[in-house]
Amino acid sequence: MMKNILVTGVSRGLGLEIVKAILADDENFVYGISRLKTKELDELLINNANRFKWLSYDLSNVNDVRNKIFKEFIGVTTPLHGFVNNAAIAYDDIVTNLKYEPLLNMYNVNVFTPMIISKYVIRQFLLHNTKGSIVHISSISVHTGYKGLAMYASSKGALEAFSKNTAREWGEKTIRSNVVVAGFMETEMSAMLSADQKDRIYKRTSLKTPTVTKSVAETITFLLSQKAESITGQNIHVDSGTI
Ligand SMILES: NC(=O)c1ccc[n+]([C@@H]2O[C@H](COP(=O)([O-])OP(=O)(O)OC[C@H]3O[C@@H](n4cnc5c(N)ncnc54)[C@H](OP(=O)(O)O)[C@@H]3O)[C@@H](O)[C@H]2O)c1
Repeated sequence: MMKNILVTGVSRGLGLEIVKAILADDENFVYGISRLKTKELDELLINNANRFKWLSYDLSNVNDVRNKIFKEFIGVTTPLHGFVNNAAIAYDDIVTNLKYEPLLNMYNVNVFTPMIISKYVIRQFLLHNTKGSIVHISSISVHTGYKGLAMYASSKGALEAFSKNTAREWGEKTIRSNVVVAGFMETEMSAMLSADQKDRIYKRTSLKTPTVTKSVAETITFLLSQKAESITGQNIHVDSGTI
């Protein structure tokens, strides 16, 4: 039977890699969300027309989740088996410069809309009696601390707490929730860092290298699969061994 997985942030970076890893299994169907359609995303959509559907949705919009994503895009009659909460933005600045508007916008995209999506995802798991798996993407900055990342890391810390408690609440219904804690990856999100800054970050890892997006994506597909049926409420670090 086809497994239907909802993935956010599919237009580039880790999200694209996650879609590729999920589609590597012929039995999987991806419902992908981002605001923009990139060339790479378009190619994936064309090459997997019967197993990959895309919606342009701005996750800063907390109000249209039910109508636009669940009623119109996925459809309530579609059994859902997984949700990967990957899309995120980083509000980088030192704490003394903090402003409410960008903080609220980041929380809408990174935390509030994903929490509302989780609500409908779990309802859809229950409606169709599927053994659903949720995977949130967090960041190593939650655990190590980096100058300028306090606001961003706080949003990821919120997801880690949300995931653990979701796992407790819904485990009895065979619904699982886990977090993949990613190290620094070479994507658009980290592109503003200088070579020097990147070097200093990589020196703090055991492998002395950036985290490879494919390795993160493969861990996510494992957590989505039945192979991980006894894993829930966990944070799995894929971070080149950050110390
Ligand atoms: N890069 C790193 O070093 C690093 C480290 C640890 C954790 N992470 C986490 O890994 C995940 C993927 O990050 P990445 O590095 O792949 O980032 P990225 O290259 O910046 O990609 C972010 C994705 O999220 C989507 N997105 C952003 N704002 C959105 C919005 N308002 N509505 C809908 N979609 C939106 C973007 O699509 P559109 O712009 O088309 O909407 C894009 O597809 C994130 O959760 C990030 O926090 C990243």
